Amino acid sequence: MQAILPGAPWLIAHKSMLGINQPFKVTLNGQDYVLWQNKTGQVSALNNVCPHLQAPLSNGWVCQERNTITCPFHTLEFDGQGYLYQDGSKSNAPIAETLDLTIVGDLIWTYGGFEPRLPIPQLHEKIAEEYDFIGVTAEKRIKSNFLTSLLINYDHNHQNGTHREMFQVKSCRAEFIEKDGIYALVAQTAELADYTPEEIAANPTLGAFPKIMNNFLEYIFPSSQFFRLNTADIKTYQGHILYPETENSTKTFILMYAKFSKPELKEMLQESLLQIAAVVVEQDTSCLESLYPRAKAKIRLKSEDIMYYAQELYQNWENLAAAQTT
Ligand code: FES
Ligand SMILES: [Fe+2]
Repeated sequence: MQAILPGAPWLIAHKSMLGINQPFKVTLNGQDYVLWQNKTGQVSALNNVCPHLQAPLSNGWVCQERNTITCPFHTLEFDGQGYLYQDGSKSNAPIAETLDLTIVGDLIWTYGGFEPRLPIPQLHEKIAEEYDFIGVTAEKRIKSNFLTSLLINYDHNHQNGTHREMFQVKSCRAEFIEKDGIYALVAQTAELADYTPEEIAANPTLGAFPKIMNNFLEYIFPSSQFFRLNTADIKTYQGHILYPETENSTKTFILMYAKFSKPELKEMLQESLLQIAAVVVEQDTSCLESLYPRAKAKIRLKSEDIMYYAQELYQNWENLAAAQTT
């Protein structure tokens, strides 16, 4: 496939998703890679295709002693620089292809082998410093192309359709507070219905939501969208991460960061927060996977300028990326 947005930085995993000494497969822009993390937290990444007879290295296993991945076919081993280990010796030159990684804190970024055309955003690091990391949720492959999957995150008119179950959003308004190239800040006001005691018992976080929610969304095109919920008791920074796997599939996961007014609230609400975020993604996924191929819209809704702004960033990628690199 032709790479989508070549030169964009993609956030492919949080270290907690990798486990220790276990192969972790990532598909980015039609290429498969294998990642693994050793017990000191060092992360390695190779093209997933074994350079011997093309077995998938992610089906193999990690040798802790040499920090290598062993191919499941004929047990050849490769280290994170692509060197071959065979019969107790190491090759003179790398043989397996490596994947460029930039690790910032616990976040693993890559340009997928392309020359960088946008910097790695700094917002993630700032959030990780200020908020508690609650966990990763909603790790999912969406059977939908990248642009369509991206645009649903910029679409502020689908709340009371796609998310009517559980959230019962009565109305939702959104407006740009700031837009500057790949960065945009949007203020969203959502009016919620009354939840029954049973609904709150099933998802205690619902009980902490005010009737009128004043949320903020911070967009860093193309990889990240942060949802900021500010209530008296909970402040969240919920990062919806996306990257293109193939032409017709997109990978997503959510990085949940939060602050609570009291430590016991964290205990009480963190699971529910993760669960609610997973439901949101599940609902978005069902919607995306049911859509017919995109065609020119014959109807325009209010606040859709935010969505079309993102579409323009996508369509003008070459100019945008050129402007950022000059
Ligand atoms: S295919 Fe990998 S060792 Fe032979
Ligand atoms: Fe949604």
